[in-house]
Amino acid sequence: MFLVSEEARQRFAAHAEPGNVAKIMSAPCVILVAYDLDFPDHMAQLRPDAPGATGWWPTEEGRSYDGLRNSALQGGYLMLAARALGLDIGPIGGFDREAVDRDFFPSGRIKSNFIICLGTGTTEKLHPRQPRLSFDEVARIL
Ligand SMILES: Cc1cc2nc3c(=O)[nH]c(=O)nc-3n(C[C@H](O)[C@H](O)[C@H](O)COP(=O)(O)O)c2cc1C
Repeated sequence: MFLVSEEARQRFAAHAEPGNVAKIMSAPCVILVAYDLDFPDHMAQLRPDAPGATGWWPTEEGRSYDGLRNSALQGGYLMLAARALGLDIGPIGGFDREAVDRDFFPSGRIKSNFIICLGTGTTEKLHPRQPRLSFDEVARIL
């Protein structure tokens, strides 16, 4: 969901942590990345090669797990695409997901994951890249 109007961003900001409100209100576009728990209903269109695909997720738990994982990946690719176009992005997870879902997705079948503030950052406000764990700290080669 693309929150472009000031009204839409204000509505979202009401559910955000206080430290995130100014970031949301100053971004020309806030992308709410979410996932549809009924995504298997689209499998006939997405996987015409696999006629049984609609039945691959028999449990709500399985739909929820794969929905969360795949929406995170899609959001990540979206951030890469935005940066490739020269835009700046700010991913934000600091908001009340349940309140956002009640407000923006009242059907109860679509769940929010995170938002991406999209725009053009200013060098005074962009903070330096944070440290990373080293390869040896997080990886094993077997
Ligand atoms: C999933 C996720 C959630 C985040 N949530 C917030 C947030 O709520 N508020 C915020 O100011 N920054 C948040 N950040 C961090 C910023 O967007 C950060 O600037 C960005 O990840 C760049 O990080 P770096 O400095 O480590 O390169 C979040 C980052 C990620 C990946």
